[in-house]
Amino acid sequence: MSPYTLDDYSSELGVPRSDVASRANKVSVKRLIARNFGRAAQSYDAAAVLQHRVAARAMLGLPTNAVVNRVLDLGSGTGIHSVALADRYASALVTGLDLSMGMLQFAQRQHSSCNRVRWCSGDIESLPFASESIDLIFSSLAIQWCNLERVLDEVSRVLKPGGQFVFSTLSDGSLHELNASWTQAGESGRVNQFAEFEKQQEIIHRSGMSLNSMSLQTEVVYYPDVITMLRSLKALGVNTVLEGTPSLLTRRKLDVLKDIYESLRELSGLPLTYQVVYGTLIK
Ligand SMILES: C[S@@+](CC[C@H](N)C(=O)[O-])C[C@H]1O[C@@H](n2cnc3c(N)ncnc32)[C@H](O)[C@@H]1O
Repeated sequence: MSPYTLDDYSSELGVPRSDVASRANKVSVKRLIARNFGRAAQSYDAAAVLQHRVAARAMLGLPTNAVVNRVLDLGSGTGIHSVALADRYASALVTGLDLSMGMLQFAQRQHSSCNRVRWCSGDIESLPFASESIDLIFSSLAIQWCNLERVLDEVSRVLKPGGQFVFSTLSDGSLHELNASWTQAGESGRVNQFAEFEKQQEIIHRSGMSLNSMSLQTEVVYYPDVITMLRSLKALGVNTVLEGTPSLLTRRKLDVLKDIYESLRELSGLPLTYQVVYGTLIK
């Protein structure tokens, strides 16, 4: 059986061969993250059923009676939650920040009538904002792409004293069925690994901010088959692998993956688990 070509692989599963070659350094990885999310901008909201549910749940942690003038949405994606934040805090200026120009351009087009939301290109690990300038920082399912220590250093720097950081992220065990199935198929390193919840708690403890709440919730998404699952991950832009260099995928390997994953089938379909962390920190 001949291996997938670059285009076959790219269009079928969304991890182009060029990603593998350029994965060597961090800047390239960030470019890949930005590019893959940018390519997913049009398809993201329709595919993001779980992501929207998680953001809505994270928003339950937003402060209700604080004075909020400046708000940041870190990793704002298509901008839907930045706009929800502007609706929630009627006199606040909200900035949606994202690494991906594709996402930012999409957000700007989609929400052009919302004049209290600005769109800003930037890296969560190096925020382009003055120290102690922000009242509230929100981030849903974006900081798992970053180094948590650097994120918290930056969040702590730009928040005003008493300001809050309300977030959701992923922890260890997320996508474990896909990871285990690929590994069993002899293809380890195709799925991102996430930090353990306890490790995340430890890093937060060292951040100097005080922990208001932090909880872990398991979510399972079901798919009719493996290809639909992989296409959905591509539509969400989450097809960048942060570490490792997966080998060329062949149709045979994909068939092996399908057979292995079938053994996990439940009544609702093929399960894919997310371990979602919700937290609120106060500076
Ligand atoms: C899964 S999407 C979540 C989007 C949105 N927050 C939501 O809940 O639908 C993750 C977003 O984080 C952005 N992102 C990833 N790493 C980033 C970084 N270092 N700095 C800024 N944005 C980043 C991606 O470009 C993407 O738009």
